[in-house]
Amino acid sequence: TRLFISRDSTALSLGAEQVVKAIQEQASLKGLDVQIIRNGSRGLFWLEPLIEVETAQGRIAYGPVQTDDVSTLLESGLLEGKQHPLCLGNIEELPYFENQNRLTFARVGLTDPVSLEDYVAHDGYRGLKNALNMQQADIVKQVTDSGLRGRGGAAFPTGIKWNTVLNAPAEQKYIVCNADEGDSGTFSDRMIMEGDPFVLIEGMTIAGLAVGATQGYIYLRIEYPHAKVALNQAIAAAYQNGYLGENIQGSGKTFHLEVRSGAGAYICGEETSLLESLEGKRGLVRFKPPLPAIVGLFGKPTIVNNVISLASIPVILDKGGEYYRDYGMGRSRGTLPLQLAGNIKHPGLFEVAFGMTLRELLYEYGGGSASGRPIRAVQVGGPLGAYLHEGQFDTPLDYEAFAAISAVLGHGGIVVHDDTVNMADMARYAMEFCVEESCGKCTPCRIGSTRGVEVIDRIVNDVQKDKNTVLLRDLCDTMVYGSLCAMGGMTPYPVLSSLNHFPEDFGLQPAAKA
Ligand code: NAI
Ligand code: SF4
Repeated sequence: TRLFISRDSTALSLGAEQVVKAIQEQASLKGLDVQIIRNGSRGLFWLEPLIEVETAQGRIAYGPVQTDDVSTLLESGLLEGKQHPLCLGNIEELPYFENQNRLTFARVGLTDPVSLEDYVAHDGYRGLKNALNMQQADIVKQVTDSGLRGRGGAAFPTGIKWNTVLNAPAEQKYIVCNADEGDSGTFSDRMIMEGDPFVLIEGMTIAGLAVGATQGYIYLRIEYPHAKVALNQAIAAAYQNGYLGENIQGSGKTFHLEVRSGAGAYICGEETSLLESLEGKRGLVRFKPPLPAIVGLFGKPTIVNNVISLASIPVILDKGGEYYRDYGMGRSRGTLPLQLAGNIKHPGLFEVAFGMTLRELLYEYGGGSASGRPIRAVQVGGPLGAYLHEGQFDTPLDYEAFAAISAVLGHGGIVVHDDTVNMADMARYAMEFCVEESCGKCTPCRIGSTRGVEVIDRIVNDVQKDKNTVLLRDLCDTMVYGSLCAMGGMTPYPVLSSLNHFPEDFGLQPAAKA
């Protein structure tokens, strides 16, 4: 019997390894024939560690499973997919799973992440096969037609970026994958690298063919050791089977790929400091222009794309730009893997087409707060994203709709707080985070964030409250317009949204909530 138990970091931190050991030990004592495949996570974290059993009726799931449950599970017919209090039925028929649009995460949880055979058996490398028979400009056109926008957070049209690199004349070009997923509450990059590394490798290879780049680097944050293992195993298999290296699948085309580790600085997720770091220097932000697309790694034209942007390329080249474009709303085309974290009953990853409201996500997928108390504030888009209040929960998940309420969708990370949160503390935390993570190149961010912490403290402690509130707004204005990069430029989002929507937490008059 084939069992699937995740090798994803979340499942591991919840005890998946111990569950695997317990099954192996007890199955061997009982003389049972069990094969355990370590898959990626389905993203339903509240059910991890999850066991899936392959049966004629599909994959029957059990979870969350602890080691103590293993003996009763085996005794009550786990291997035949029989009933048990932990049995969830067919995993793919669970509403959380069934109602998603899994384009990028199609294989995550389904396959053995490091088996190239499994990848190919589940439609892997079909996009590359098409790309190998296409002109460079036609590959870029498919990406442009898909409407894909940068999933790292800035939402810049990927096709336009690729076109810039394609048209930049140079002997050497590079593809750099930004896998320095530093935003708190985000984990979609990690999940795909651990759960389906080949899709990223394929996406990068297609990018290389499209713009004429023969070398790629995955800049991986050091805090992702399991992703590193999975990526390196997959890269080795791709080389062995002629999907990387010289003469890819007999085409005469070349693409080399390697993983490079970061050293733990948040700012190295900013594309130009990432390039500095890749070149072996301190991660300081560069001035733009020139854009990395023109003068990037080692001064050469470079595509710098986020993991999810690149991992979305294979399905676009397999099924066509139009297919991908059919999902979504307005100018936000395709899907976004949303990551729900914080005080939420059902944390995890849900890949859905743009357009669902935040409220649907929080209550229908997330099941409301974990504490059972009312949800008061939700931070969308990482530590630099705005806090939203209840009156804004009907906003559709769409880049433009979020911009219209002075918020961002960013990388799709959503952190939930109930009514025990103190938003002045959250605002202070945002400024402190900027103090910690500023690269120090420009004054509004380096000095402004430190002054910001002090000013918030004065407001909260009733020291010249009105004057300091004006000062805090002034400081935020200077940071937004005077900072060189998003670190200093976006820190005011969580600060101002806290101040505007939750002034009572600063001891100020309550706001009328729109
Ligand atoms: P940006 O708007 O300056 O640039 C976006 C991308 O488009 C860059 O790659 C830039 O080089 C490229 N670009 C712009 N104009 C171009 C042109 N004409 N041709 C070709 N390429 C062009 O934004 P930035 O600073 O790269 O990213 C900021 C965002 O990063 C924030 O909105 C935030 O949401 C996100 N972020 C994500 C984090 C994560 O962990 N995923 C962490 C921190 C921030
Ligand atoms: Fe560095 Fe902050 Fe300036 Fe960005 S805004 S360049 S992180 S000092």
